[in-house]
Amino acid sequence: MIAWDYGFMKGVHQLLVAISATLFLGRCWMMWRSNAVLGRTLGSRYLPDAIDTLLLISGITLMVLSAQYPTTYLWMFFKLLLLLLYIVLGAVALHRGKTARVRKWASVAAIGVLGSMIALAMLH
Ligand code: HEM
Repeated sequence: MIAWDYGFMKGVHQLLVAISATLFLGRCWMMWRSNAVLGRTLGSRYLPDAIDTLLLISGITLMVLSAQYPTTYLWMFFKLLLLLLYIVLGAVALHRGKTARVRKWASVAAIGVLGSMIALAMLH
């Protein structure tokens, strides 16, 4: 039987990070190629939303299990701050940006923020 311990949950979280990042990079690539806002299809909207929801749940589970709350742990505070920035930049890059130029710059910034979150989580 699989033990639902911290190590297993962290593995699930890392796997979801990898899937979520791959889906985001794929959607950025589609946006760069087509110069267009992405539509609401299974691959471009619903699957990434489902994965990101699971990623959030796994992160909150890890935070509670390890009692590393943003009020006490500075790295967690910055990670959640970066998460909010990533969500806003991602929405501008894929859906809300008015021009292709704005969407492209937002996608570059979002990828940078995503990389910072991964580095912060690994190096804290
Ligand atoms: C896009 C969103 C996220 C990314 C890219 C991300 C990235 C990562 C990565 C790469 C790790 C593994 C670090 C390692 O190898 O040691 C990790 C661990 C962790 N993440 Fe996330 N994460 C995200 C969202 C969240 C959220 C929303 C929370 C909490 C609300 C969270 C809480 C944690 C915790 C507590 C750990 C374990 C750290 C430890 O064991 O010391 N993550 N995250």
